[in-house]
Amino acid sequence: MTEKEQFVYVQTFGCQMNLYDTDRMFQVLGKEGYTSTQDPSQADLILLNTCSVRDKAEQKMLSALGRFHPLKQHNDDLVLGVTGCVATQEKDKLLKKVPYLDLVIGPDNIAALPDVVRKARQDREGIAETKFYNKKSYDWIPVEPQNDGEISAMLTIMKGCNKFCSFCIVPFTRGREVSKPADLIVEEVRRLVDNGVKEVTLLGQNVNSYGLDRPGEPNFAELLTLVDGVPGMERLRFTTSHPWDCTDQLIECFDGRLPSLCEYFHLPVQSGSDDVLKMMRRGYTIDTFKERMLRLKEACPDISLSTDIIVGFPGETEAQLEETLDLLREVKFERIFSFSYSERPGTAAARVVDDIPREVKAERLRRVQAVQAECTAEMMQRYDGQVVEVLVEGPSKKAERASCTPMFSSQMAGRTRTNVVTNFSNDRNHPVQKGDLVKVHVDTVYPHSLAGKLVDRGDTPSLNTAQRTSLTLR
Ligand code: SAH
Ligand code: SF4
Ligand code: F3S
Repeated sequence: MTEKEQFVYVQTFGCQMNLYDTDRMFQVLGKEGYTSTQDPSQADLILLNTCSVRDKAEQKMLSALGRFHPLKQHNDDLVLGVTGCVATQEKDKLLKKVPYLDLVIGPDNIAALPDVVRKARQDREGIAETKFYNKKSYDWIPVEPQNDGEISAMLTIMKGCNKFCSFCIVPFTRGREVSKPADLIVEEVRRLVDNGVKEVTLLGQNVNSYGLDRPGEPNFAELLTLVDGVPGMERLRFTTSHPWDCTDQLIECFDGRLPSLCEYFHLPVQSGSDDVLKMMRRGYTIDTFKERMLRLKEACPDISLSTDIIVGFPGETEAQLEETLDLLREVKFERIFSFSYSERPGTAAARVVDDIPREVKAERLRRVQAVQAECTAEMMQRYDGQVVEVLVEGPSKKAERASCTPMFSSQMAGRTRTNVVTNFSNDRNHPVQKGDLVKVHVDTVYPHSLAGKLVDRGDTPSLNTAQRTSLTLR
């Protein structure tokens, strides 16, 4: 413990892996006497946990740094650091670019954070620690449950990526794939569940290739089976996946044999054109992707599918964009995440000219989103009149804004197993609480959420697994 209480403020950008890493930073700093604060002006340590997947994310980080710089004038001891993917992308170059920066720390160096902060404060000199540890005996920082009533937890099960898709910076910012040992994961899940967690999301840049670096040990499908078997595990999710490693064995996990495995699969396709996929070095064709989608729907007719799309990859033609629109119309994802191509330094695609003008990218993005809006509206209709299982997260946003009685909230919100936000009115006689699994009869379908009424809650205080599974959208 340090002598005086220190405050740390962290701003997190990017994906769930960064959010997870932020929690690990709080964990290691907490042991050194740091308390987290929401107020940067009160902080002795400010960290920006950054993302560099697209240029915009990197720019956001630079402007945030500029905003925090003046705080140094009021606090001589304030340490300002950059962690996450921009740290490993830029390494010590960032200290030169931003001379008032004290630390640059990569995602593999979180355990060293307290020492590096101490050293930076002592030496009054910028430090960069961005080395990758791509070894089998990687030192994972085990999750410590948060004791704040969390019902949903994320859990990193592997780091890095070996795919090197031509547009993507992640293999450069996160290093090679290293899988966390399965027994450690199961132990962490057990600890989370014992602490009241109902829903666990397993995280990795490509969780489908989990275990390939540990021959003879569980692969991803086998890991799902192990985690599903943890007593008290209610909802199991994972993100994100790559079509290449989406095996039959993994698809079979969705046929109902793993009761906690939620009927939701995010499988990024990126483009509907074989030629673009080849340029992206994705390693699959549209036919094989569609075949995977079909098999998933056969294994689990209720499944909700989502994907990522990039428009304006260098050389993408109008006809190729049309192929992407056709794919969306054919597969009918429930939702998509779509992006304009952004050139990233050091990637293979950066060696060819980014020849699609910004306005054309923006217009293609609008077309993709317009087609998807129709598909989403159509897919959402399947919930109308159905009874869905909802994991209660707390008062609905509207109720939170209007709340004057903290003990009882008339409108509650949660998510279905297919990950759709669902609002419903609470029952004064049997009020529901955060963490409850309830049945809701859907009576209104909005573009991105549902609303409905609680179903005979008095009679069924808790649902068993068989009831829950048969309730999902049937
Ligand atoms: N591991 C995941 C992707 C992680 S990045 C996968 O393989 O699917 C999340 C998404 O960001 C990607 O799916 C892609 O759609 C988008 N993305 C990545 N690099 C990008 C770039 N250079 N420009 C635009 N979008 C990008
Ligand atoms: Fe990036 Fe491809 Fe790895 Fe996903 S699989 S993180 S898109 S390199
Ligand atoms: Fe961004 Fe790094 Fe995640 S680049 S998307 S924070 S892995």
